Amino acid sequence: MSATRGQSPVLWFTGLSGAGKTTAARYVEEALRRSGVPVERLDGDELRATICKGLGFSREDRMENIRRIAYVAKLLSRNGVVTLVSAITPYREMRAYLREHLPGYVEIYVRCSLTECERRDVKGMYAKARRGEIAAFTGISDPYEEPEAPDVVIDTENMTVEACGDAILAHIAESVSR
Ligand code: ADX
Repeated sequence: MSATRGQSPVLWFTGLSGAGKTTAARYVEEALRRSGVPVERLDGDELRATICKGLGFSREDRMENIRRIAYVAKLLSRNGVVTLVSAITPYREMRAYLREHLPGYVEIYVRCSLTECERRDVKGMYAKARRGEIAAFTGISDPYEEPEAPDVVIDTENMTVEACGDAILAHIAESVSR
């Protein structure tokens, strides 16, 4: 990936809830920070409590959620901050939008089977979704459309956090100035 001067990569972590998006993003964030790279992490769950508050999980609301996050990411990126976004980003339409509208967009598919995400059930949400207590839950009652041409794939079922993070760091090494 090449970046024009003053514009930094936006590492966009897409994948099922519980796939390990935030964990991988945190690892990369720390590694870049240690190297003196300006970095900011935008987390779907946190943004939904602030600038995306009030948005639900209909297709329209999810699209709006992604557009708002992309807007902030664009501002950071054009000011030289490597930006890491973790958000499910379940629809191909969203990823096509990001590729078109977000300079520096790097799509990272955090791959993990639904079976494993449900086994982990970090937040207890899959169990609730199975019981019908959460509507339109990604992977259960709402689709996750697999990325067709991600820039990087990390397989959190079979790779360590370090291996996943290092694969991402290797991918962006040339476009990050320290
Ligand atoms: S996205 O679809 O718009 O990209 P985002 O990543 O911001 O989703 O938010 C997903 C988080 O919201 C999940 O990690 C989970 O904690 C919570 N959540 C609540 N309801 C749902 C739902 N119906 N589908 C998916 N995630 C949900």
